Amino acid sequence: MMKKVLLSNGYAMPIIGLGTYGMNKTETKAIILKALQLGYRQLETAPIYLNELEIGEAIKSSGIDRDDIFITSKIPPHIKSYESTLKIADRIMSNLGIDYLDALLINNPVPWGKEGQDYSKENVDVWRALEKLYDEERVGAIGVSNFAINDLERLLPFVRVKPHINQLGIFIGHTLDDIRAYCLKHNIIIQAHSPLARGRIFKLKEIHSVAEKLKLSAAQIALQYVIEKNTYPIVKATSEQHLKENLEALDLNLPKHWQKNLDEIVTDVRDYSPPKAKSIL
Ligand SMILES: NC(=O)c1ccc[n+]([C@@H]2O[C@H](COP(=O)([O-])OP(=O)(O)OC[C@H]3O[C@@H](n4cnc5c(N)ncnc54)[C@H](OP(=O)(O)O)[C@@H]3O)[C@@H](O)[C@H]2O)c1
Repeated sequence: MMKKVLLSNGYAMPIIGLGTYGMNKTETKAIILKALQLGYRQLETAPIYLNELEIGEAIKSSGIDRDDIFITSKIPPHIKSYESTLKIADRIMSNLGIDYLDALLINNPVPWGKEGQDYSKENVDVWRALEKLYDEERVGAIGVSNFAINDLERLLPFVRVKPHINQLGIFIGHTLDDIRAYCLKHNIIIQAHSPLARGRIFKLKEIHSVAEKLKLSAAQIALQYVIEKNTYPIVKATSEQHLKENLEALDLNLPKHWQKNLDEIVTDVRDYSPPKAKSIL
């Protein structure tokens, strides 16, 4: 039975989600099916990943009750109006072959390439559409992704339903302590996307030495680390071995303070440039 965490509205979310970005299109259905058979119960996608049909087919073939699978999707970054949000939400559900989503998030505070510009008014419009879908019970929870404190402060005064989720790039060396504390205070659960920094986390030698000491894999160390920060990993894996290994990371019983040395890492593995102000992936 997959462990779950309760969102602020009481909706239960499995503590690990399978990220599906960048999966080979011809293999996606088989990978999702394998993941469901192994015990994954949260799938994370977005229209821009172009894999909704394959995910929908895998869910159908799995024979698992729709209600037992938590599906998270995201409103693409360039969609910033009320009407277009409702339209894309319909399309997401129709492509996946489902009539409700468990979580629907605003993918990014600004469209890609518009960093530094102010889309707060547009985000309120998108939020109104998410609230409508929530009222109609077509989504179980609504949220945001890659929203910094500033972005949330410009949204929260205008919401009727507070975001249940903020999905952020979080991994060892990139723990976003300020926004984590802010979300905790506002009862917003954090999903940690890219918890392995797309594989670059393995460049950190400290992880390998901790993994060796605890007789675990480096990926398990990285996943357990984000879980202990009270963030819930959305991790992509394609091989059966990786899928299994990552699920096993949920049930580790680690000694006290095992993560202390890892907390001291400030290297941002995204580009290996010198330590700098923490930012959102
Ligand atoms: N909201 C956003 O803006 C946003 C941004 C980025 C990502 N995401 C979501 O988060 C998901 C995960 O992030 P991500 O795909 O960027 O990166 P990630 O999950 O941090 O890393 C994925 C990489 O790690 C490898 N891996 C997985 N398990 C492993 C294991 N046990 N041992 C060794 N290597 C392992 C995978 O290899 P194999 O594939 O070979 O198994 C893949 O190369 C995405 O798929 C997407 O759904 C959201």
